[in-house]
Amino acid sequence: MTINAERFKLLNLREHRHLLDDLAKLYIQVFLEAPYFEKYEFEEVCKEFTIYSKYHTILIIYDEKVSGFIFLKSGSELNKPTEIKDALQKYINLENSVYIDEFAICNNYRGQGVGSKIMEIILEQYKSYDLFLRTNLVNNNSVLKFYKKFNFEITPITEIVETESAITQTKQMDTRVYMVKKTNN
Ligand SMILES: CC(C)(COP(=O)(O)OP(=O)(O)OC[C@H]1O[C@@H](n2cnc3c(N)ncnc32)[C@H](O)[C@@H]1OP(=O)(O)O)[C@@H](O)C(=O)NCCC(=O)NCCS
Repeated sequence: MTINAERFKLLNLREHRHLLDDLAKLYIQVFLEAPYFEKYEFEEVCKEFTIYSKYHTILIIYDEKVSGFIFLKSGSELNKPTEIKDALQKYINLENSVYIDEFAICNNYRGQGVGSKIMEIILEQYKSYDLFLRTNLVNNNSVLKFYKKFNFEITPITEIVETESAITQTKQMDTRVYMVKKTNN
Protein backbone atom coordinates (compact mmCIF):
# COMPACT_ATOMS: atom_id res chain seq x y z
CA MET A 1 0.00 0.00 0.00
CA THR A 2 1.42 3.39 -0.95
CA ILE A 3 1.00 6.07 1.64
CA ASN A 4 -0.09 9.58 0.73
CA ALA A 5 1.11 11.97 3.43
CA GLU A 6 -1.74 14.38 2.61
CA ARG A 7 -4.26 11.86 3.91
CA PHE A 8 -2.77 11.90 7.40
CA LYS A 9 -3.86 14.06 10.28
CA LEU A 10 -3.04 14.24 13.96
CA LEU A 11 -5.81 14.62 16.55
CA ASN A 12 -5.67 14.92 20.30
CA LEU A 13 -7.71 12.24 22.11
CA ARG A 14 -8.86 14.86 24.62
CA GLU A 15 -10.95 16.55 21.92
CA HIS A 16 -11.92 13.32 20.14
CA ARG A 17 -12.96 10.94 22.90
CA HIS A 18 -15.42 9.17 20.61
CA LEU A 19 -12.33 7.58 18.97
CA LEU A 20 -11.24 5.93 22.23
CA ASP A 21 -12.68 2.49 21.31
CA ASP A 22 -10.85 2.52 17.96
CA LEU A 23 -7.62 3.52 19.71
CA ALA A 24 -8.06 0.68 22.24
CA LYS A 25 -8.62 -1.87 19.43
CA LEU A 26 -5.49 -0.72 17.58
CA TYR A 27 -3.44 -0.78 20.81
CA ILE A 28 -4.53 -4.37 21.53
CA GLN A 29 -3.70 -5.42 17.95
CA VAL A 30 -0.22 -3.79 17.96
CA PHE A 31 0.85 -5.44 21.21
CA LEU A 32 -0.54 -8.86 20.27
CA GLU A 33 2.20 -9.00 17.60
CA ALA A 34 5.99 -9.57 17.77
CA PRO A 35 8.07 -8.80 19.73
CA TYR A 36 5.45 -8.18 22.43
CA PHE A 37 2.84 -10.98 22.15
CA GLU A 38 0.96 -9.32 24.99
CA LYS A 39 -2.69 -9.89 25.75
CA TYR A 40 -4.82 -6.96 26.88
CA GLU A 41 -8.53 -6.87 27.68
CA PHE A 42 -10.58 -4.29 25.78
CA GLU A 43 -12.44 -2.99 28.87
CA GLU A 44 -9.19 -2.58 30.81
CA VAL A 45 -7.49 -0.70 27.97
CA CYS A 46 -10.50 1.64 27.56
CA LYS A 47 -10.50 2.37 31.30
CA GLU A 48 -6.77 3.09 31.25
CA PHE A 49 -7.05 5.41 28.21
CA THR A 50 -9.92 7.36 29.75
CA ILE A 51 -7.54 8.27 32.56
CA TYR A 52 -4.68 8.72 30.14
CA SER A 53 -6.53 11.14 27.89
CA LYS A 54 -5.62 13.98 30.27
CA TYR A 55 -2.05 13.61 28.97
CA HIS A 56 -1.01 14.43 25.44
CA THR A 57 -2.43 11.47 23.53
CA ILE A 58 -2.13 11.95 19.79
CA LEU A 59 -4.15 9.88 17.38
CA ILE A 60 -2.65 9.35 13.95
CA ILE A 61 -5.54 9.31 11.50
CA TYR A 62 -5.28 8.00 7.95
CA ASP A 63 -8.31 8.14 5.69
CA GLU A 64 -10.47 8.95 8.73
CA LYS A 65 -9.32 5.78 10.58
CA VAL A 66 -7.20 5.59 13.74
CA SER A 67 -3.95 4.25 12.25
CA GLY A 68 -1.41 5.01 14.92
CA PHE A 69 -0.85 6.72 18.24
CA ILE A 70 1.79 8.49 20.25
CA PHE A 71 1.36 9.18 23.97
CA LEU A 72 3.44 11.93 25.52
CA LYS A 73 3.86 12.80 29.16
CA SER A 74 5.96 15.30 31.05
CA GLY A 75 9.03 13.58 32.59
CA SER A 76 8.19 15.32 35.87
CA GLU A 77 4.97 13.25 36.04
CA LEU A 78 6.78 9.95 35.53
CA ASN A 79 5.30 7.32 37.80
CA LYS A 80 8.35 5.07 38.31
CA PRO A 81 10.44 3.87 41.25
CA THR A 82 12.95 6.36 42.66
CA GLU A 83 15.92 4.27 41.49
CA ILE A 84 14.73 4.54 37.87
CA LYS A 85 14.19 8.29 38.16
CA ASP A 86 17.60 8.77 39.80
CA ALA A 87 19.28 6.69 37.10
CA LEU A 88 17.52 8.71 34.35
CA GLN A 89 18.53 11.98 36.00
CA LYS A 90 22.17 11.10 35.14
CA TYR A 91 21.29 11.31 31.44
CA ILE A 92 18.51 13.86 31.22
CA ASN A 93 16.83 16.63 33.18
CA LEU A 94 13.55 14.93 34.14
CA GLU A 95 11.97 18.27 35.06
CA ASN A 96 12.51 19.47 31.52
CA SER A 97 11.77 16.31 29.62
CA VAL A 98 9.08 14.56 27.62
CA TYR A 99 8.40 10.84 27.92
CA ILE A 100 7.25 9.04 24.80
CA ASP A 101 5.08 6.52 26.58
CA GLU A 102 3.61 4.66 23.60
CA PHE A 103 4.23 4.99 19.87
CA ALA A 104 2.94 2.79 17.08
CA ILE A 105 1.84 2.85 13.49
CA CYS A 106 -0.72 0.33 12.29
CA ASN A 107 0.96 -2.75 10.78
CA ASN A 108 -0.02 -2.19 7.12
CA TYR A 109 1.38 1.37 7.04
CA ARG A 110 4.78 0.59 8.60
CA GLY A 111 8.12 0.96 6.85
CA GLN A 112 6.88 3.78 4.61
CA GLY A 113 8.16 6.78 6.47
CA VAL A 114 5.05 7.62 8.51
CA GLY A 115 6.72 6.94 11.89
CA SER A 116 9.74 9.04 10.85
CA LYS A 117 7.50 11.96 9.83
CA ILE A 118 5.68 11.85 13.16
CA MET A 119 9.00 11.64 15.03
CA GLU A 120 10.31 14.69 13.12
CA ILE A 121 7.18 16.65 14.15
CA ILE A 122 7.62 15.64 17.81
CA LEU A 123 11.37 16.43 17.81
CA GLU A 124 10.68 19.88 16.36
CA GLN A 125 7.79 20.58 18.72
CA TYR A 126 9.78 19.54 21.81
CA LYS A 127 13.26 20.59 20.70
CA SER A 128 13.94 22.46 23.93
CA TYR A 129 13.20 19.35 26.04
CA ASP A 130 15.13 16.16 26.72
CA LEU A 131 13.20 13.15 25.42
CA PHE A 132 13.13 9.57 26.63
CA LEU A 133 11.25 6.33 26.16
CA ARG A 134 11.19 2.68 27.19
CA THR A 135 11.08 -0.19 24.76
CA ASN A 136 11.74 -3.93 24.48
CA LEU A 137 15.40 -4.88 24.64
CA VAL A 138 15.09 -8.33 23.07
CA ASN A 139 14.04 -9.14 19.47
CA ASN A 140 13.41 -5.49 18.83
CA ASN A 141 16.35 -4.41 16.66
CA SER A 142 14.27 -2.58 14.05
CA VAL A 143 12.65 -0.37 16.71
CA LEU A 144 16.00 0.29 18.48
CA LYS A 145 17.46 1.18 15.07
CA PHE A 146 14.50 3.48 14.36
CA TYR A 147 15.13 5.52 17.52
CA LYS A 148 18.93 5.51 17.05
CA LYS A 149 18.33 7.14 13.66
CA PHE A 150 16.86 10.08 15.61
CA ASN A 151 19.87 10.15 17.98
CA PHE A 152 18.25 8.41 20.92
CA GLU A 153 20.90 6.45 22.82
CA ILE A 154 20.45 3.21 24.68
CA THR A 155 21.12 3.53 28.42
CA PRO A 156 22.03 0.69 30.78
CA ILE A 157 18.74 1.39 32.62
CA THR A 158 16.45 -1.59 32.32
CA GLU A 159 13.27 -2.86 33.94
CA ILE A 160 11.78 -6.32 34.04
CA VAL A 161 8.04 -6.22 33.43
CA GLU A 162 5.46 -8.93 33.79
CA THR A 163 2.94 -9.22 30.99
CA GLU A 164 0.40 -11.82 29.93
CA SER A 165 1.53 -13.88 26.95
CA ALA A 166 -0.96 -13.97 24.09
CA ILE A 167 0.61 -17.27 22.99
CA THR A 168 0.74 -19.31 26.17
CA GLN A 169 -1.90 -17.33 28.13
CA THR A 170 0.57 -17.31 31.04
CA LYS A 171 2.64 -14.60 32.68
CA GLN A 172 5.87 -13.71 30.88
CA MET A 173 8.84 -11.56 31.87
CA ASP A 174 10.21 -8.99 29.41
CA THR A 175 13.22 -6.69 29.68
CA ARG A 176 12.57 -3.05 28.83
CA VAL A 177 15.37 -0.57 28.20
CA TYR A 178 15.35 3.22 28.43
CA MET A 179 16.57 5.35 25.52
CA VAL A 180 17.33 9.06 25.90
CA LYS A 181 17.91 12.10 23.71
CA LYS A 182 19.31 15.31 25.18
CA THR A 183 18.05 18.62 23.87
CA ASN A 184 20.49 20.53 21.62
CA ASN A 185 19.34 23.83 23.11
C1 LIG B 1 8.50 1.82 15.38
C2 LIG B 1 7.41 2.32 14.44
C3 LIG B 1 6.52 3.32 15.17
C4 LIG B 1 8.08 3.02 13.25
O1 LIG B 1 7.08 3.50 12.37
P1 LIG B 1 7.23 3.27 10.79
O2 LIG B 1 6.16 4.07 10.12
O3 LIG B 1 7.32 1.85 10.48
O4 LIG B 1 8.64 3.99 10.57
P2 LIG B 1 9.34 4.46 9.22
O5 LIG B 1 8.71 3.85 8.05
O6 LIG B 1 9.46 5.93 9.25
O7 LIG B 1 10.80 3.93 9.47
C5 LIG B 1 10.98 2.59 9.34
C6 LIG B 1 12.28 2.27 9.97
O8 LIG B 1 11.95 1.66 11.20
C7 LIG B 1 12.32 0.32 11.13
N1 LIG B 1 11.14 -0.45 11.52
C8 LIG B 1 10.87 -0.71 12.82
N2 LIG B 1 9.84 -1.52 12.92
C9 LIG B 1 9.39 -1.77 11.66
C10 LIG B 1 8.34 -2.55 11.11
N3 LIG B 1 7.56 -3.28 11.91
N4 LIG B 1 8.15 -2.55 9.76
C11 LIG B 1 8.96 -1.82 8.98
N5 LIG B 1 9.98 -1.09 9.45
C12 LIG B 1 10.22 -1.06 10.77
C13 LIG B 1 12.83 -0.02 9.75
O9 LIG B 1 14.05 -0.69 9.96
C14 LIG B 1 13.01 1.32 9.07
O10 LIG B 1 14.37 1.68 9.03
P3 LIG B 1 14.96 2.52 7.78
O11 LIG B 1 14.43 3.92 7.93
O12 LIG B 1 16.43 2.43 7.96
O13 LIG B 1 14.44 1.85 6.53
C15 LIG B 1 6.54 1.17 13.88
O14 LIG B 1 7.35 0.27 13.21
C16 LIG B 1 5.69 0.44 14.91
O15 LIG B 1 4.58 0.83 15.16
N6 LIG B 1 6.20 -0.67 15.52
C17 LIG B 1 5.43 -1.47 16.47
C18 LIG B 1 5.14 -0.76 17.77
C19 LIG B 1 6.40 -0.44 18.49
O16 LIG B 1 7.22 -1.33 18.72
N7 LIG B 1 6.58 0.82 18.91
C20 LIG B 1 7.72 1.26 19.65
C21 LIG B 1 7.50 0.96 21.06
S1 LIG B 1 8.37 2.13 22.10
